[in-house]
Amino acid sequence: MNSLKPIFDEKKPRVYIETYGCQMNVNDSEVILSVLQENGYSLTEDMNKADVILCNTCSIRDNAEQRIWGRIEQFRLQKRRNPAVVIGIVGCMAERLKDKLLEKVDLVAGPDSYRSIARMVADVRPDSPQINVLLSRDETYSDISPVRLDKNGVSAYISIMRGCNNACSYCVVPYTRGAERSRDPHSIVREAEELFGNGYKEVNLLGQNVDSYLWKSAEENVNFAKLLEMVSAVSPELRVRFSTSHPKDISDEVLLTMAAHENICRHIHLPVQSGSSTMLEKMRRKYDREWYLERVAKIREIMPDCGLSTDVIAGFSGETEQDHQDTLSLFREVCFDSAFMFQYSERPGTLASKKYPDDVPPQVKTARLNEIIELQTRMSLESNRRDLGKRFIVLVEGASKRNGEDLCGRAGNNKMCVFPAAEAERKALGLQPLQAGDYVTVEVKDCTSATLLCTQVL
Ligand code: SAH
Ligand code: SF4
Ligand code: F3S
Repeated sequence: MNSLKPIFDEKKPRVYIETYGCQMNVNDSEVILSVLQENGYSLTEDMNKADVILCNTCSIRDNAEQRIWGRIEQFRLQKRRNPAVVIGIVGCMAERLKDKLLEKVDLVAGPDSYRSIARMVADVRPDSPQINVLLSRDETYSDISPVRLDKNGVSAYISIMRGCNNACSYCVVPYTRGAERSRDPHSIVREAEELFGNGYKEVNLLGQNVDSYLWKSAEENVNFAKLLEMVSAVSPELRVRFSTSHPKDISDEVLLTMAAHENICRHIHLPVQSGSSTMLEKMRRKYDREWYLERVAKIREIMPDCGLSTDVIAGFSGETEQDHQDTLSLFREVCFDSAFMFQYSERPGTLASKKYPDDVPPQVKTARLNEIIELQTRMSLESNRRDLGKRFIVLVEGASKRNGEDLCGRAGNNKMCVFPAAEAERKALGLQPLQAGDYVTVEVKDCTSATLLCTQVL
């Protein structure tokens, strides 16, 4: 079977891969490398040494694509230096732009074509570029053990489903990733077991809408709540996280399952997109402001300590100042721990691009986005202040980025905690120094809007 470790072997042809976009793309890159390693390729982290340069791309907003166009030019410069190198564009932009990319690169592979990626790479000739952008109804790569590219060996992603069956009017994902399909739950559990056996302490179950996960076979029906239960049973020492939850589909059953299992982290990423019911209707999100607030109330009733984060879009078609104020008031009311905040970017081919003009002026979008960011920064600080004095169990990830003498890791609610390694104090108590993958109890002493500053409880 596949090794979980990346292979760096100078004697084999070397693949360099850059990944853009969401966590799902990170996991897809791991699948791609697994397929390539099985076929005799090795990995390199140095583009200049690569025989194959792959770019796993994202189309979610225009600025994501612009950045990738810039990278493609860099790769082409490299090809001028070394004409034998193969340049491939894979992922969502490959799917969206298809043969339009062939003028620039040697290989174009959509998200459902990765099983054939080694053959495609091998078949590239100067006069014969390779393209496969067929979307599949059933591909889930369930039998492929991804090569793990994360650096710390503590936390890994597992894709539990692919594609999306929603039709949010602004969104390109259904076009780039195709229809939703769920992966066999037993292969998911096996992957989690394998990771735990290799020292991992956290798995992150990924899907565009995990709440609509459904596996049907002659013997069983497994929904997302059941899947959570199955994965959480791998070991009490293995933390389970998941994203993304959809407000229209997140069920009480899921919330109760979370509450019943200590190792399912109490954090929900619940994108709201807008606080205005008029906008939500136009966005085709299939819920309104009241529904969203009810779901939040339910989450907090069942799990008062549950972390909550969101995504929001500023300046969607026709958004009025009042709609924008509705978003701000929802943010004040809910007090999210954190948020990903975006300006609306019209995507060609989407329903919105055909039906709803992109009519909010750019400077208004920017001003609204800045207002949301400014408010959210205050709310994040407020949310963190509420945790002062509390104790959390943190999974140690490694040295803190800002101060190498401190350690960092996440609390169950997904907040980043930073704390001194306290090696001398630990030694005095006969305790080993902490390592990545250890659990430790910390107490929150101070905070910024982004981090909880803690001490170890020894
Ligand atoms: N499946 C997830 C999100 C996928 S995309 C969900 O349904 O919430 C991640 C985020 O990108 C979205 O939540 C949305 O906030 C943002 N996004 C998607 N399309 C966008 C667009 N056209 N312009 C700006 N932001 C967009
Ligand atoms: Fe896009 Fe909506 Fe699907 Fe999320 S649920 S990926 S926003 S269409
Ligand atoms: Fe981007 Fe595709 Fe993910 S568009 S956000 S890489 S599903």
